[in-house]
Amino acid sequence: MLKDKIRQLAKAYHQDVIGIRRRIHEHPELSFQEVETGKLIAAKLAEYGIPYEHGMAGNGVVGLIEGRNGSDRVVALRADMDALPIEEANEVPYKSKNPGVMHACGHDVHTASLLGAARILNELRGEFDGTIKLIFQPGEELLPGGASIMIKEGVLEAPRPASIIGQHVHPPLAAGKVGMRAGQYMASADELYVTVKGRGGHGALPHDCIDPIVIAAHIITALQQVVSRNADPHTPSVVTFGYIASKGGATNIIPNEVRMEGTFRTMDETWRFRAHELMKKMAESIAEGMGGSCDFVIDVGYPVLANDEALTQKVRSCAEEYLGPENVVELPPRMTAEDFAYFSQQLPACFYRLGTGNPGKGITSPIHTNTFDIDEQCLELSIGLMAWLALKELEG
Ligand code: NI
Repeated sequence: MLKDKIRQLAKAYHQDVIGIRRRIHEHPELSFQEVETGKLIAAKLAEYGIPYEHGMAGNGVVGLIEGRNGSDRVVALRADMDALPIEEANEVPYKSKNPGVMHACGHDVHTASLLGAARILNELRGEFDGTIKLIFQPGEELLPGGASIMIKEGVLEAPRPASIIGQHVHPPLAAGKVGMRAGQYMASADELYVTVKGRGGHGALPHDCIDPIVIAAHIITALQQVVSRNADPHTPSVVTFGYIASKGGATNIIPNEVRMEGTFRTMDETWRFRAHELMKKMAESIAEGMGGSCDFVIDVGYPVLANDEALTQKVRSCAEEYLGPENVVELPPRMTAEDFAYFSQQLPACFYRLGTGNPGKGITSPIHTNTFDIDEQCLELSIGLMAWLALKELEG
């Protein structure tokens, strides 16, 4: 049976994939600077005998595994490859050798896993019909996102995939399990840059000034009503300001200007853009009503990631078949964002979570922290499952 062959190959390649993951982990590269990572991926595909193209969106690599000629169906698998500007605190043999840069979001795991899955699929190419497209994508962590650039450069054409599958590490979930959710799964993320302008002066004489600090305080509080009074309660929404600073100012000095930076996230594309208008109008009218003014700039980021209902149900049942139903869990929506969302706007997509945690071994740190790590046992499951899902999806 194909499933057993995949299991055997996953077991056989597990150590090798651990080695690849460690090598990428040791040499992390920031978004759109993944030169060595791109070369490593290309070298591995060449070693496996898989044809590829190198250079899409800069450092992206796209491979093609053609099965027997019985079908023109194409399924895409995607991994991202960039690291984060974090100094690694883990004392492990494969600790980052690039100061201030770390694979703290597990993209090393995604890339190594896709290479492992590709090797398995290539080994089995005489046993399935159709084509697997391998997408190694740069720049997930930085706007405009490598996915959007690769799509513009034609990654979803010639040949056009019928669907796309991707995965992300998930430390809250134990190694050995995967999780997913059909429908809206991850949020849109837009950056808010707000400058409140008043007129500074002596703190003891506020009547001679226009106090931008008081205006900013009102704006921050009022914008929370976009969530509590305007958003449909069934549509998760978040407004967070993570930065506020005045230009000048002291205990007895009212400054001229206050700058704030925040994020707006939601799960509905229509509401998303209506909320932008509401927030802008609310902030501007508050500032104006209090005698000041406000520049409200919204940097539009990644869209909502929607997992295709039918594809996700299929991925779920195939994962249950491969891992056992007890190891496939239903996940709640998540307000973080991910540029795989761009793929989900183009074709049926499924983005699932790979359990990587192991509390017994002390592996619990969340992603984007300087102590994030994985239980590498998960890599055997990761490569086998991805290969299995691709083959089941190729059957149509
Ligand atoms: Ni990530």
